[in-house]
Amino acid sequence: MKHGGVWDVITCFAAVLVFLQCFCSAAGLVTCSGMVPMAYRSDKISITDFGAVGDGRTLNTKAFREAIYRIEHLKRRGGTLLYIPSGVYLTESFNLTSRMTLYLAKGAVIQATKDTTNWPLIAPLPSYGRGRERPGGRYMSFIHGDGLHDVIITGENGTIDGQGEVWWTMWRQRTLQFTRPNLVEFKDSRGIIISNVVFKNSPFWNIHPVYCSNVVIRYVTILAPPDSPNTDGIDPDSSSHVCIEDSYISTGDDLVAVKSGWDEYGISYGRPSTDITIRRLTGSSPFAGIAVGSETSGGVTNVLAEHITLYNTGIGIHLKTNIGRGGIIRNITVSDVFMVNVRKGIKIAGDVGDHPDENYNPNALPVMKHIRIKNVWGEKVQQPGLIQGLKNSPFTDICLSNINLFGSSGAKNVPWKCADVSGGAVQVSPSPCAELVSSRQTGACSVPF
Ligand SMILES: *[C@@H]1O[C@H](CO)[C@@H](O)[C@H](O)[C@H]1NC(C)=O
Ligand SMILES: *[C@@H]1O[C@H](CO)[C@@H](O)[C@H](O)[C@H]1NC(C)=O
Ligand SMILES: *[C@@H]1O[C@H](CO)[C@@H](O)[C@H](O)[C@H]1NC(C)=O
Repeated sequence: MKHGGVWDVITCFAAVLVFLQCFCSAAGLVTCSGMVPMAYRSDKISITDFGAVGDGRTLNTKAFREAIYRIEHLKRRGGTLLYIPSGVYLTESFNLTSRMTLYLAKGAVIQATKDTTNWPLIAPLPSYGRGRERPGGRYMSFIHGDGLHDVIITGENGTIDGQGEVWWTMWRQRTLQFTRPNLVEFKDSRGIIISNVVFKNSPFWNIHPVYCSNVVIRYVTILAPPDSPNTDGIDPDSSSHVCIEDSYISTGDDLVAVKSGWDEYGISYGRPSTDITIRRLTGSSPFAGIAVGSETSGGVTNVLAEHITLYNTGIGIHLKTNIGRGGIIRNITVSDVFMVNVRKGIKIAGDVGDHPDENYNPNALPVMKHIRIKNVWGEKVQQPGLIQGLKNSPFTDICLSNINLFGSSGAKNVPWKCADVSGGAVQVSPSPCAELVSSRQTGACSVPF
């Protein structure tokens, strides 16, 4: 895909400006604030109190582990703030603990070691049955939280740098023994805030809340090169009440992908992702802007994504699942999307993604229903839409309204492609396939639109 072009940049800036004006002037702007309280910590310690040196060369693993041990065992009332001053703090992976704030000052960088030889291994997630890319366990995320509550990662836009290049090289050379580490993972945790932090060059997915509830992610910047493999931005996975807003993400894979486990393992674990909000997100990706899937075996319900700006992107909106996944994808709303220079505007597909092993159940058909996509404006869109349901499990109540997807000037209008789908479409241009009824009157959609 061709990137860049002055025209793209100008269009994108114009769009972002319009969008900023709209949301700044709107009284009573809806936000994630209040969903998780922003705890004030009267007890504060600095990583330098534990001997850390921010010279980009000293390995500070012991300082991070001791500081967090101190927070965990001294249990100060109201929790503790761990201050990371300006400087580059090289370290191996470490665990967080409950009731703490990891505060990155302006110019602070927590940088992952490039030495992967002693990287800790942890058990595979039960809903995946194995590592996502290699069988067996998986490398622990660089910054890890397991079974925690009340954790904040924030500051003055300091950076968490995964130095992922060594991992991407192992992936490219097929020398990975286990699944690559995420940059930040919270598992079985609740009451998490991640805000005002820059995430850079993750080895694998950037932010992965799994089996979590009440997670707020806002004012973050997530960056990785477009050719970096599987560097998803934010993947809420078998989690509920996750709110993501006011962020910029530009990576090598999906910007946000809502997931819930993989085939027979995800089906038996049975933990859905529900009540996920994504708003005021800008970015670019060679894959999807807003995605659900493809691992959705626990089900995904009640997702709202709105005010999304995408440029130089593979697929604007991508809902994806597969035979053997099972899982119900229901009540997904995507609205107010601006996209420029994208390969495919909207794709909803039932034959995407691989299987963990040969033991998946070919009769475990996914269900996709009550999907609303509205107010989408696209320019330089090569293919407007593709909706491919499954013969034995057609997608139903798929409803599109007020969607305008323009090709490049001079390019011929490429038609939509659909199969095994029912629903409605009003004010959609170019006009979609006949399977989607083009009238408000017919009851093709469960909700008037
Ligand atoms: C970090 O957490 C993981 C998973 O809970 C655990 O296996 C590991 O022992 C912990 N490491 C340290 C240094 O506490
Ligand atoms: C940090 O970045 C956010 C945008 O992501 C911005 O709104 C905020 O003002 C920045 N804060 C500081 C202290 O620079
Ligand atoms: C559908 O999801 C939205 C959030 O996007 C929620 O407000 C609404 O209550 C859900 N509808 C049903 C019927 O569950």
